[in-house]
Amino acid sequence: MLRTHTCGELRIQDVGKKVVLAGWVDRIRDLGGVKFIMLRDRYGLTQVVLSSDNHADLRRESVVQVEGVVRERPKETINKDLATGEVEVVAEKIIVLSSPLKDLPFYPGETKLPSEDVRLKYRYIDLRRKEAMDKIIIRHKVAQAVRNYLTSQGFVEVETPFLTKSTPEGARDFLVPSRLKPGTFYALPQSPQLFKQLLMVSGLDRYFQIVRCFRDEDLRADRQPEFTQIDIEMSFNTREDVLQVTENMLKFVFKQVLDVELPDKLDHLTYDYCMNTYGSDKPDRRIGMEFKDVSDCFMESEYHVISNVLAQNGVIKGFTLKNFSEKMTRKLADELDELAKSLGLGGILWFAVDQNNVLRGSALRYLEKNYKTVVEKLSMQPKDVFIFAVGKNNIVNSTLGEIRKLLGERFFSHLKTGFDIFWVIDFPMFEYSEEENRFVAQHHPFTMPNLEDLEKYRDSDLSKIRAQSYDIVINGFEVGSGSVRIHNAELQREVFKLMQLSEDEIKVKFGFLLEAFQYGAPPHGGIALGLDRLVAIICDVSSIRDVIAFPKTSSGVCPLTGAPDVVSERQLKELKIKLGGD
Ligand code: AMO
Repeated sequence: MLRTHTCGELRIQDVGKKVVLAGWVDRIRDLGGVKFIMLRDRYGLTQVVLSSDNHADLRRESVVQVEGVVRERPKETINKDLATGEVEVVAEKIIVLSSPLKDLPFYPGETKLPSEDVRLKYRYIDLRRKEAMDKIIIRHKVAQAVRNYLTSQGFVEVETPFLTKSTPEGARDFLVPSRLKPGTFYALPQSPQLFKQLLMVSGLDRYFQIVRCFRDEDLRADRQPEFTQIDIEMSFNTREDVLQVTENMLKFVFKQVLDVELPDKLDHLTYDYCMNTYGSDKPDRRIGMEFKDVSDCFMESEYHVISNVLAQNGVIKGFTLKNFSEKMTRKLADELDELAKSLGLGGILWFAVDQNNVLRGSALRYLEKNYKTVVEKLSMQPKDVFIFAVGKNNIVNSTLGEIRKLLGERFFSHLKTGFDIFWVIDFPMFEYSEEENRFVAQHHPFTMPNLEDLEKYRDSDLSKIRAQSYDIVINGFEVGSGSVRIHNAELQREVFKLMQLSEDEIKVKFGFLLEAFQYGAPPHGGIALGLDRLVAIICDVSSIRDVIAFPKTSSGVCPLTGAPDVVSERQLKELKIKLGGD
């Protein structure tokens, strides 16, 4: 071994021991007669003292091995912020194992860091920072806790293929050309959905996998082209069983990794309730701002804009911002108004109740008569602001939802402490795709519809059919999503048909699944949680890039390797691929 201890290990009780440490030179302080080196490895920092007659060629980020004796630091030099801060190692021998040949693009010990692009290009230097490396270690702990919990409950981890056929999860596929069958392509899996269902048909009734998934979609802070799912499937269970296993697993993970107890019973909110109350199917409830319908206060309004909307089953609703009147500037009001317009509403209305109950805001014209009823209905206090919109319920909901999110991020992040975790259930089974001009599955087409709804609306209105699906939401992020599955070939065929897939498409894309269902399929259901999102929430960071060792940038590029990149003519020839022009 090149070391007897790590740089985070030595304490006062080690004083007098002869030790060998190895690591990177974080900082050097040369006091003339004596040099102090901060030696760093992933466990911490230890101060090493070198006498001036030591002429080792030391630079920041040199990798060195130090042999020496532990001694107590003089009282006045004790560093309480450092776990090893009461001691230092007096070096007897120092060997430079490797020295940087040039200046580093940045130094991990510095507080001012370069842009994320530079950090990702030199991610191996970035990860030398404790804050960066700790997140990768927490990720490992989360994955380990998941494995331990699920294994203890009889789940078996099974690997499913990466070179496979398209699985419809709503994104584009990454394709891999086949050399042996020119002109054909594998698709990298968007999820192991179909394989886990086939495992249920095989009788492996409790499956899980911590698995990489690939989706060619527009990237955001919570989306990467390759990401990791905690993928789970169970047979002979009800929806409640899947929710229970997931809840218990999350409780175990939070306890193990953070020593946090999650609530005993998680709320179940319906999709409709979430949309009507927060304008989002993944609200962060910690910021409050629940929507209130005030249509009844305006029933006798003389204003056309209002009476017309109400006559056509529209709504007037909004939310109160406590003690916000000073922050509600003209500029902010204009910004919100623009946002509402870009989302399809005529604009946004608002009013503030001032200290002396004098009104201020864009809604005064419409409010004259209704002012008192609205203020009373909402129990508004001086300095409160009510922001509201008038229009069709679903557009009002989604617009207010975006405004709520914007205000939450800008003004109420101090309320975002702790964990807000709950289930959303009863999603619509289908949603209309303007792009494809047909109904598509909201979750995926293997989801069991609510059978009563199917009976009632299959011929009249597909948008009214609810799915037996569920999402787990934490702090405003959809962390996991799943459903009870269809396990009957006929029903599966009907759902494909409702989505207007042709017999041919059904056969080519899903023939193997329908065939498997003919040979005896158990009732089953499952869920997949985004490991990256879960770890990001646990680490309290806003981007999943921070919890991935080598992430891609928001344009899908790996700055470190330069992927994606061009390939040689020879490779293309072997694959019989010709690159076309535009
Ligand atoms: P879904 O598509 O909802 O369901 O994905 C499940 C979870 O995976 C995470 N996730 C992502 N994380 C990072 N980057 C992405 N691009 C990305 N896309 C999804 C989210 C999401 O909740 N087969 C079904 C699950 C099932 O029905 O069992 C599925 O994949 O946290």
